[in-house]
Parts: sequence; C-alpha cells; structure tokens
Amino acid sequence: MKTARFSRIGFILAAVGSAVGLGNIWKFPYVTGEYGGGAFVLVYLITALFIGIFVLIAELLIGKMGQSDAVSMFENLATKHGKIWKLAGFIVVLPLIILSYYSVVIGWIFHYIVISFNNLPTTVKESTDNFLTLLTADYQTQLFYHTVVFVIVTAIILKGIKDGIEKINKILMPLLGVILGILFIYSINIDSFSNAVHFMFDPDFSKLSSTAIVVAIGQAFYTLSLGMGIIITYAASLPKQSNIVKSSMIIAVIDTVVAIVAGLIIFTLLFDKGAESTKGAGLVFISLPSVFYEFGNAGQFLSILFFVAIAFAGLTSAISMMEPTVLYLIERFKMTRTKAAMICSLFFYLLGIVTLFSNVNEYSEMLKVGEKSFFDWVDFVCSTILVPFGGILVVVFVGYFMDKEKINEELIPLMGKTFVKIWFFMVRYIIPVALVAVILNETGIFKF
Ligand code: PFF
Ligand code: NA
Repeated sequence: MKTARFSRIGFILAAVGSAVGLGNIWKFPYVTGEYGGGAFVLVYLITALFIGIFVLIAELLIGKMGQSDAVSMFENLATKHGKIWKLAGFIVVLPLIILSYYSVVIGWIFHYIVISFNNLPTTVKESTDNFLTLLTADYQTQLFYHTVVFVIVTAIILKGIKDGIEKINKILMPLLGVILGILFIYSINIDSFSNAVHFMFDPDFSKLSSTAIVVAIGQAFYTLSLGMGIIITYAASLPKQSNIVKSSMIIAVIDTVVAIVAGLIIFTLLFDKGAESTKGAGLVFISLPSVFYEFGNAGQFLSILFFVAIAFAGLTSAISMMEPTVLYLIERFKMTRTKAAMICSLFFYLLGIVTLFSNVNEYSEMLKVGEKSFFDWVDFVCSTILVPFGGILVVVFVGYFMDKEKINEELIPLMGKTFVKIWFFMVRYIIPVALVAVILNETGIFKF
C-alpha cells in the first residue's frame, strides 16, 4: 500500500471520529431510556469496555499485520482457506450501505441547525408536526441536505488519508469536545442534573432483562464501528510504532465518555422541562427542540451548539464508512482515488435517495416491504444483523485462522502472557457466542 500513513494522534482522532457518531449522541440515550436507565448503562459499560476493547484489539491487529485493504488482509493473513476468507473482506460494503441513510439523517441535522437560527418550535405538537412534515412530505429539503453531505464526504475522501481524513478529524474532533464541554457545564448547573445522574447510574436490576444485555452488546459494536472493516482499514495506515492495546483502550473510553456525557446533557434538559424520554428519532428531532424553546434565548444557543455537535460527530463517522470500499477499489483494481471515490459516493448517494423517499407519503407504499419502510429495513438489517455478523467473522478469523505465534509476538510485549490468554479465550469462545445471541434475538428467531 502506497498511501501516506496517519500520525499517531491522527490515527486516534480518526478512529475516535468514526466511533463517536449518531450512535453516541442519539441512539445511546434513547436505548438507555427504553431499557430502563441505570441497569442498562451498567451492562453497556461492561460490554463496551470488555468486549469492545477486545474486538478493537483484534481489528487493529488485522490492520497492523495486514497493511492493505480489508479483502486482501483477510486473504493474506489466513493460515488456511485464504480464498474463502477473502469473502469476509466484503463486510466493507456494509458501512457504505449504512452511509446511505446515515447521510440522510445528517442532512436532517443540518436542517435543524438552520431552524435553530430562525425559530424553534414552541410546543411539542409543533415540534412533532415539523419533524413529520420534513420526514413525510418535504423531500426537497431532505434531498438538498443529503446532497450537501454527499459533496462534503466525497471532497474529504478524495484528499486521502493524510490530507483528508486525518485533517478533518484534527479539526472537528477537538471542536466537538469543546462544544460538548460547554453543554455539559451548562447542564451541571441545572437542578435536574442530579435526576439525570440518578436515571443513568442507579441500577434498578428488576428492569434488567436478558434483552437489555443483548441490546447492549449490539450497541457496543455499532458505537465502536466494529465488524464493518472500518477500524481494520484505518489500522492498515497505522504509524509503525503505535501501541494497539493502548489505542484500543483510548478509543473505547472516549467513545463511552461521549455517550454518557451526551446522555446526561439530554436527560438533564428533558427532565428540567418535565419532558419524557421518547423513542427513536423523536428524542433528538422532536422532544429536544421543543424543550430548547423553553430555555428562552439560551435555548437557541443550546440548540445550535447541540446540532452542530451531532453534525460534526456524524460527518466524521460518515467519512469512515466510505474509506474501506474506496481503499479496496484502489488496491484491488488499481483505480485512482478519484474514480474509486466517485463510484462509492454515487452508490451511497443514490441508495440514500431511495431510503429518503421511502419515508415520503406519496412513495412510502411503493417502498414498503412488510411492516417496515425501506429506510427502516436498511437500518435494521445492517446495524442489528449484519454488523454483529461481521463481528463474528472478525473474531473467528483472529481467534482460529491467523498465525497464533505472530499474534503472540505482537501482543505479549504489550499486555503480558496472562492477558493475551484471556484475550484469546474471549475472542475464541465468549464473543462469538455473545454475537450469535445478538443475531438470534434481533431477528426474533430466539428472544432472550
Ligand atoms: N460508530 C458510529 C456511531 O456510533 O454513530 C456509527 C457507525 C460508524 C456505524 C461507522 C457504521 C459505521 F460504518
Ligand atoms: Na459511537
């Protein structure tokens, strides 16, 4: 591979940029609300920190030892059946498919930044109407912002690892940190902050179902961008001397901190105005905007900061979703970066348009399969079934099909013999079983 490498800090920021996304600021708070608060957070912390860090180490290991595109790495690092393992590399198209609707959602966020400057909805009803109108009728606005996201993401990917991905993350990630810091300090000074803390940290174990455990594992994978060839691809451009164990811990810890801080901010603001935690998209696009209004002038400011923060988080994740396939096309088909980027961005752009129209009234019947819209199907199939499936491929590959001697050589100096043994045990036996449980539960084949 001839492309420039990340700097050490550049790699961490890029990986954190990929990990910290809509999954942290939007999804984590509402699943926490749905699964009863504290007990869910506790389980999530355990899974994100243990399973998450172990799988991160596995993915960084593949990238560091393979130094190529994901498909080639699975093929070349396999001690046997390389031709079959090559197929596992095609998990790289998953993030590209996810990107199609992720881009549409970032587009909504852009729209909400603009709304925040103009006028906030004054009641929950108005807020609901606004969002539903955008979603089901106003496809022009959605198309416009989806196109804006498409242009930004493409422009950055065209510039490559060093001048594109590394640079944008070096700018947006610190800014994101500052904005979240401001919002967090603001929240701490509101009375309901302590309610938010109780909600998120008092574990009520009677609310803890086995479903919550399985959901937490799924969320840990999604939030850390695992099982999709993303971290693997970024790691192929790791600087030579980096410590993959330390990097994994930093990435997982920052991602987790952001999720928790975002949750505390959101619940503080909601509880202060007596609002409920709502399900799904409604939390960020309906409940919060109507609450912002009640904060008066400060509310407008809060709203702008909040949506800018999610936009930054979303964009840096979006960029990471495109790079794996782009690199694959460059390496395997000797394409120029420009051509590879154009193919990938057109793919997600066009697919995004289909997902977008699947929510629009006039077309929704046509783009409906069973109960779910095309949009919901893409999200469901990708993030709840295929991501854990990709995770299984990764851990089985690392656990059983890579050269154990070489892995030991890499890892023992970094974490010592005992921890490497524990890591192997988790990767070989525990994590694959946990992921199978996630898939069985999500598909409804077996409900936990
Ligand atoms: N980790 C991102 C988040 O938490 O929002 C989500 C994500 C990134 C999903 C990259 C898929 C992906 F390819
Ligand atoms: Na995340």
